[in-house]
Parts: sequence; C-alpha cells; structure tokens
Amino acid sequence: MSIDIDSLVRRSARLEVEDINFEAFRTKPLDPDTLRCLRYMHDVEGHTACYMRHLLATRAHRDPEVTAFLACWCYEEHWHGEAIAEVLRAHTEPGGRARLAATRQRLPKRDALRPVAFTLASAVTPHIVAVHMTWGAVNEWSTQAGYGRLAAKAGHPVLSELLRRIMRQEGRHIDFYALGARTRLAQSATARHLMRLALRRYWAPVGAGVMPDAELRFLVTHLFSDAEGRAATQRIDRLVDRLPGLGGLHLAEKALDELATNSVPDRAWRAGAAVTDRSYEEGHRHAC
Ligand SMILES: [Fe+2]
Ligand SMILES: [Fe+2]
Repeated sequence: MSIDIDSLVRRSARLEVEDINFEAFRTKPLDPDTLRCLRYMHDVEGHTACYMRHLLATRAHRDPEVTAFLACWCYEEHWHGEAIAEVLRAHTEPGGRARLAATRQRLPKRDALRPVAFTLASAVTPHIVAVHMTWGAVNEWSTQAGYGRLAAKAGHPVLSELLRRIMRQEGRHIDFYALGARTRLAQSATARHLMRLALRRYWAPVGAGVMPDAELRFLVTHLFSDAEGRAATQRIDRLVDRLPGLGGLHLAEKALDELATNSVPDRAWRAGAAVTDRSYEEGHRHAC
C-alpha cells in the first residue's frame, strides 16, 4: 500500500472542539429533524468499537498496517460521537456513555454471534480484508456525504463548523479505505467477484441493523431525497464505480429509492428489524 500510514497515524488526533461554542445551541437550538439525525449519527459513531470487535475477529488483525489504522480510526470516531453528544446535551438530551449503553442494550441477541460469523468468513476466504476495506470506503463516503447534507440542511453556523471538522477526519479514513480497496481489488478477480456479490446482496446504509428501520428511513429520506441529496447519492455511486470491478452497482441511489418508497423486501436493513422502534424509544427513556 503506498499510502503513508506513518503520517496518517501521526496526524490522528482527538477532534478539536475546545473553541466550538456549544452554548450557542441553547440560544439558537437546532430543529427537531436535525436533532433526530444527530441522535442517529451519535449512536453510529459510538458503535465503532463494536464494529472493530468484528473486524479484529478476522485475519485483518494479522496486518500491522491495518491494525495501526484501526486503532486511530476507532479513537477518532469515538471523539466524533463525543462531540455530537455535546450538541445533544446542549439541547438537554442525554449523550455519550449513558445513551450508548441504552443503544447497546437493545441490540438483537444474534449480535453476539457476529464475531463468530466474521471469524468463519475469514477462514473461508483470504479476501476478507478486501471486503472490509471496500465496505469501509463505501461507508466513509456515505458518512461524509451525510454530514455534508446535514450541515447544508440545518443551516446552523456552529453545527456547520463542527461537522466540517468531522468531515475532514472522515476524509482521512476515506483515503485509507479507498486505497486499500483499490489495491486489493486490482490484485484478484475473485476478490472483485466476491465484493460485487456482497455489496449487491448485503450493503445497506451505515447504521442499518444497529438503528431501527424507522430511524434509518428518516435519516436517508431527510438528507438525500431532495435534488441536492440525490446528486450526493449519485456522487457516492460514481466513487464506487471507480473501484476495480464495481461499476454500475448504484448502491446509494438504489438504497434511497427503496427507503424513500418503503419497498425494502429482501435487503440487509430488514435484518435490523429486531431493533424495534419501541425498544429504541424505551431504551432511551431509561437512559434519560
Ligand atoms: Fe466519524
Ligand atoms: Fe470515519
């Protein structure tokens, strides 16, 4: 991999928020739709350590370049979640550990089996790291686009500045994942074939399976169903198109269409249906 991993690791840092005026949200609060999106983003950023648990159960843990990145990635995502928690607290809502504990409480029981599934998949195919890198690239592109859309729609200068800083760090995550994906996919026709199959069949927007369907649907339609949002999904799809062997999948735009029209028959986010809207609301009431 030609990316300068040492420089990436050296530049890894806690998100700077000391000069962000969170008090401004008390005098000029965010609208309810923006707050609903931020709750989703907070919970998903806070879930990164759980994703890492799955990834380390694969042969990815044998690659020191990948583990160096993962250590920094998890640290930075943690502070993204904390920064969003600060915004929620400024609106007198719980954020951080109390909220995350409730989020994790309502995960479906089968979540405990995920590391086993990852270990088995890793034993079956040597291309699991290619899958991880590609999945990571698609998710980081989508996350960055989501933050961009939220900043544009909310029109709140303090939130815009905070999200700009988060997006900058997401850009470094993109650099690592996209290059890792490009390199590994270019090396193997089997990896390309497997990846195409996996994305077509299982890819769902970030947070599916962790967040209730209703929250996923709300976030995607709120951020991406207008003209600018649709253009953003098309941009994500063009980035995926440029990865070896992954042209023409239209993942982001298809997900938008399916979620916006409520036609979600056989897709991965249905697997998240065990996280019901009711358990989500009850869990967070207890956290308050
Ligand atoms: Fe993040
Ligand atoms: Fe990220």
